[in-house]
Amino acid sequence: MQRVEAEIARLIDECEYDEVTNLFKSLSGGKRLRAKLILKIAPNHKSAPKLAAVVELIHAASLLHDDVIDEAQTRRGVRSVNATEGSKISVMLGDILYSKAFTELVDFDKEIAKTIASSVTSLSKGEMLDVKMAENFNDDEEKYLDMLYLKTATLIEAAARSSAILAGKNAEIHAIYGRNLGLSFQIIDDILDITQDSKTLGKPALNDYVEGKCTLPYIYLYKLLSDEDKEKLKSIHAKELSEEDSMWIREKMNQHKTIEKSFELALKLSDEAKKVMIDDEELVLILDTMIKRSF
Ligand code: FPP
Ligand code: MG
Repeated sequence: MQRVEAEIARLIDECEYDEVTNLFKSLSGGKRLRAKLILKIAPNHKSAPKLAAVVELIHAASLLHDDVIDEAQTRRGVRSVNATEGSKISVMLGDILYSKAFTELVDFDKEIAKTIASSVTSLSKGEMLDVKMAENFNDDEEKYLDMLYLKTATLIEAAARSSAILAGKNAEIHAIYGRNLGLSFQIIDDILDITQDSKTLGKPALNDYVEGKCTLPYIYLYKLLSDEDKEKLKSIHAKELSEEDSMWIREKMNQHKTIEKSFELALKLSDEAKKVMIDDEELVLILDTMIKRSF
């Protein structure tokens, strides 16, 4: 991973703008899941750290834009760039990282470049769908999972597929692994938004529902509530939650075990990923660590 961090720093330096270097340094790097995945799939390839750096820059750019879109004040426990520097700077910093990543991508094999580039179109479609879906209460599980696939799983799938191509491994199998890892990862993320406190999350708890996002535990809950409670859940959608409402949501979820039900699906998807990668201890370990994480 040190090689990836060095590569990222080198690419940022190549942008030749101190403001960008300083702002980038102020960002918290995060879990670097996508980079770790690429290094595990293509550990001996000399271009793997660069591919990992490219994917992490795209991911960082997408979060800078996402925080503007979501009007988020914190990211990974620190104030977001839009909160400290304003939305214009956050959008432009994202554009610089994103275009620099694409400049580097042209050095790769055409199939790899196309895999990553087209996943960014999916990512953007997923984000747009997420915004549109948050405008109304949604209780359609399939629609929700389709959106999750586009918004989160496609870049992870593309990271797995492209690094497999780089290493001369089976691209299809690795893509299946990446897709299921990505879906499972996002469901765990949605669960943690409800079960963890804001200090652990580095952002406000129950924030998804405040932002209008009806994640799986809410979708499952809606189906199990009485008509009266269904109305209540809808009436507090996409609004600041009072302490009482937050407690009510958590209590109802406890009662109907919707966190457990959502976790079951995350586990099932993780098992799907495991099934195709059973002989690769390191990739199985990534799945187990991801499922057990607490932030
Ligand atoms: C976080 O979702 C957002 C994403 C995973 C994808 C965002 C994608 C874009 C803004 C489009 C692509 C743009 C570029 C420049 C590559 P979330 O809001 O559910 O999660 P959060 O709680 O971490 O904010
Ligand atoms: Mg967001």
